[in-house]
Amino acid sequence: MKFLVFFLGLLVRPQAVSLARRFDSEKVFRVTPQNETQVNFLKELASAVQLDFWHPDSVHHIVAGTDVDFQVSSYLANHVQMKLEQNELQYEILFHNLQEEIEKQFKGKSYFLKKHSYLKYNDWDKIVAWTERIARNNPKMVSRIEIGKTYEGRPMYLLKVGKETGRKRVIFIECGTHAREWISPAFCQWFVKQATSTYGKDKEMTKLLDSMNFYVLPVFNIDGYVWTWTENRMWRKNRSNNSNSDCIGTDLNRNFKVAWGTESSSDDPCDEIYCGSSAESEQETKEIANFIRDHLAVIRGYISFHSYSQMLMFPYGYTYKMAPNHVELVNLIMGSSPGFSKMYKLNPASGASLDWAYDEGIKHAYVFELRDHGRYGFMLPESKIRPTCKETMLAVKYIASHILASAP
Ligand SMILES: *[C@@H]1O[C@H](CO)[C@@H](O)[C@H](O)[C@H]1NC(C)=O
Ligand SMILES: *[C@@H]1O[C@H](CO)[C@@H](O)[C@H](O)[C@H]1NC(C)=O
Ligand SMILES: *[C@@H]1O[C@H](CO)[C@@H](O)[C@H](O)[C@H]1NC(C)=O
Ligand SMILES: [Zn+2]
Repeated sequence: MKFLVFFLGLLVRPQAVSLARRFDSEKVFRVTPQNETQVNFLKELASAVQLDFWHPDSVHHIVAGTDVDFQVSSYLANHVQMKLEQNELQYEILFHNLQEEIEKQFKGKSYFLKKHSYLKYNDWDKIVAWTERIARNNPKMVSRIEIGKTYEGRPMYLLKVGKETGRKRVIFIECGTHAREWISPAFCQWFVKQATSTYGKDKEMTKLLDSMNFYVLPVFNIDGYVWTWTENRMWRKNRSNNSNSDCIGTDLNRNFKVAWGTESSSDDPCDEIYCGSSAESEQETKEIANFIRDHLAVIRGYISFHSYSQMLMFPYGYTYKMAPNHVELVNLIMGSSPGFSKMYKLNPASGASLDWAYDEGIKHAYVFELRDHGRYGFMLPESKIRPTCKETMLAVKYIASHILASAP
C-alpha cells in the first residue's frame, strides 16, 4: 500500500517548467533595411554583436526591402536599438520579453502530464508513444521503422504510411530538422492522422495511399527537440560535441553532402548555421542519408518542413543555376499553395537536405516554411496548429497527386 501511494505520488507530481536557459528581457527585432547601405550596416552589426537570426536564418540572406527578424540578449538590446535609430533603419520590436512568451506557451504546471493531442505541441516522449500507438491501431496502413540512433542514443523512428502491397513509389517527409520550429513535427503528426482517418472516405487520399507510401520522419533532430523542451526553447542545431570548441551542435540542414561548406554556411561551431566538421559528420544526417540512398529506387518526392514565413521553396540553394525541371517545380507550386503567399528558389545555402535529395535523383523536392509571417515566429500559439496543418495538408496532397501522375 505504501508503495502504491508513493508510486501515484510520482505520477502526479506537477513538473514545473523551468528551463535552464532563461530569456528575461530578451527581445526580437524586426528590421526592414531599405537599401544596400542598410543591409551592410546590419551585416556589420551582426559581426560586432551576437544576433540570433530567426528569419532569414542567417546574415547571408539579408536582402534590401525584406524583413529581418533577430533575437538579442537583454544586455545588448538597448545598444542594438540605439544603433538602428542612429542609422535610421525601420524596425519594430516583435517581443519585448521572450521569457514571458515562452512561459505562456508552456502554460506552467501540467504541460508534461497532458495527453498527446494533435492540437497541441507534444514533447518527444509523447511523440514516441504516439508512433507506437498509431502503428498498432492501423496495422494495415502504418508501420514503424527504426532507422538509426541520434548522437545521444535516441531511436529515430520513421512511419511508413500506405497500403502494404508490393513495391511502391515513395514520398519522404521530414519534420523537425531545426529544433525550435515546433509547428513542423506537429504537421507530421497531423499528416499521419489525416492519412489514416480519411482513407476510404477522401477520394484523393485513398488513391494516394493505394498507390504509394509516405515515409514520415516526425522529428529528425530529436536531441535538439528534447533540448528545446528541457533546457533552451530557442535551440536550433543538434546536440553533438565539437572538438576544439565549447560550443555545441551542428546545423543538420547544412550538413548534407551537397556543395558542403561553401555557400552561406559557417565553419564556426558557435554559429547557428555551423555545417559540421565534414559532410554527414552528424550521425543523424548519416542515418537519414543512408536510408534514402538505400531506397532511391522508389523515392519520388522529398518534402521538408520548417518554419516560419509561409513560403514554399524548391532547389537549388547551393547554386544560382536552375534545376533541370525548374518550370515543372514552379507550376506545381503555383497550383498547390493557397496558404503560401510566395514561392522562391531555396535561399542560398549549401549542405541542405533538399538540394542533396534532388541531386541524388529525387526530382520532386520541396521545403515548406510553415506559419506564420513573424507575428509569433517560433512561438506560434497552439491555436494556429489546426489552420496551419489544414492548409499545408491541401498543398501536400496536391503535390503528391502530381508526383503520382507524373513520376512512374
Ligand atoms: C538608404 O535608405 C536610408 C533610409 O531611407 C536613406 O536615409 C539613405 O540615404 C539611403 N542610402 C542610399 C545610399 O540610398
Ligand atoms: C551533431 O553534431 C555533431 C557535431 O558536428 C556531430 O558530431 C554529431 O554526430 C551530431 N549529432 C547527431 C545526432 O547527428
Ligand atoms: C560532451 O562533452 C561534455 C563536456 O565535455 C561531456 O560531459 C559529455 O559527456 C560529452 N557528450 C558526449 C555524448 O560525448
Ligand atoms: Zn528550419
